[in-house]
Amino acid sequence: MSGTLAGQVAVVTGGAGGLGEAICMALAQAGCSVVVGYNSSADAARALAARLPLAAQVPALQAHTALPAPQAHTALPAPVTDSTALATLADTLRQRYGRCDILVNCAGTTRFVPHPQLDALDDALFDQILATNIRGPFAAVRALRPLLAAPRSDGGTGLVVNISSIAAVTAMGSNIAYCASKAALDNMSKSLARALAPAVRVLSVSPGLADTDFVKSMDPAWRHEQAGRTPLQRLAGPDEVAAAVLACATHLSFSTGTVIAVDGGRPLA
Ligand SMILES: NC(=O)c1ccc[n+]([C@@H]2O[C@H](COP(=O)([O-])OP(=O)(O)OC[C@H]3O[C@@H](n4cnc5c(N)ncnc54)[C@H](OP(=O)(O)O)[C@@H]3O)[C@@H](O)[C@H]2O)c1
Repeated sequence: MSGTLAGQVAVVTGGAGGLGEAICMALAQAGCSVVVGYNSSADAARALAARLPLAAQVPALQAHTALPAPQAHTALPAPVTDSTALATLADTLRQRYGRCDILVNCAGTTRFVPHPQLDALDDALFDQILATNIRGPFAAVRALRPLLAAPRSDGGTGLVVNISSIAAVTAMGSNIAYCASKAALDNMSKSLARALAPAVRVLSVSPGLADTDFVKSMDPAWRHEQAGRTPLQRLAGPDEVAAAVLACATHLSFSTGTVIAVDGGRPLA
C-alpha cells in the first residue's frame, strides 16, 4: 500500500457497529493506532480494540524499518450527543497519544418508519435522529478540531470522514428524518471542509445498503430485492465502505468537501 498511516491516530465513533468495525480494522491494517469510540457497546468496543493488529503485526508494513513505534489501540467513550464527554475524549487523546489525525464519524441511529406514516415519526424520534446523525458529527469535529488541525512534521492534513448514506440523495431510507439527517450531513461536510481548510480535509463517504450482520438478519427476499435494484446487483460489503474511508486517508489527498459514493450505482436505477 502506498501512503502507510503508521504513526497516525484515528478515532472512529460508532466503532463497534457493523460498519465501524470494518473501518477500525482497515485503519489498523494501514498502521493507525485506532480509538474505537462507543456509546453503549463498551464491551464490544474493548474486545475489538484488543483484536485489532498493531502496525508491527501487519505483514505489509513489516518491511518498513523507519516506522514510528506503534501505540496500542484502545476503546474510549464517544457518545456524540454529549459534548462534555467529547471534551473528555479530546483530553484523553491529548494525554494518551498527543495527537489525532483522523476522525471517522460513523455513529448513527435510525428506526424503520414507513414514510407515509407521519404520526409514527414523533418529535422524540425525529430529535434523536437529528441529534445523533447531524449534531453529533458536528460536536465531535468541534471537540477534536485542535488535535485534527495541529501542524504535522510531514505537512499532512487532518481528516474527517462523515459516514453518510445514499438516502441523502434518493430520499429513500428507514424514515424521513434519517434521509434528511444524511442530506444535512453531506451539506455540513462541505461547510466544514471550507471552514477547516487547509489544516483539515472533510469528506463524506456515502454507502448504499451494506451487508452488515444487522442487514444480513433481515428478510432475505427484501435484501434480494434491494440488490436487484442496484446496477451492480449486490449490496456493499462493509470492507468496501472501509476501503473508501481508507482511500480518503491515503490516495485522495487533494479531495475535500465532496461525497464519495459507495452505492453500486443505485441512484442510476
Ligand atoms: N449498514 C448500512 O447499510 C448503512 C448504509 C448507509 C449508511 N450507514 C451509516 O453507517 C453508519 C454505521 O451504521 P451501521 O450499519 O454500522 O449501524 P450499527 O451497527 O447500528 O452501528 C451504529 C453505531 O452508532 C453508534 N451510536 C448510536 N448512537 C450513538 C450515540 N448517541 N453516540 C455515539 N455512538 C452512537 C452505536 O454505538 P453503541 O453500540 O456503542 O451504542 C453503533 O456503534 C451509520 O451512520 C449509518 O447511518 C449504514
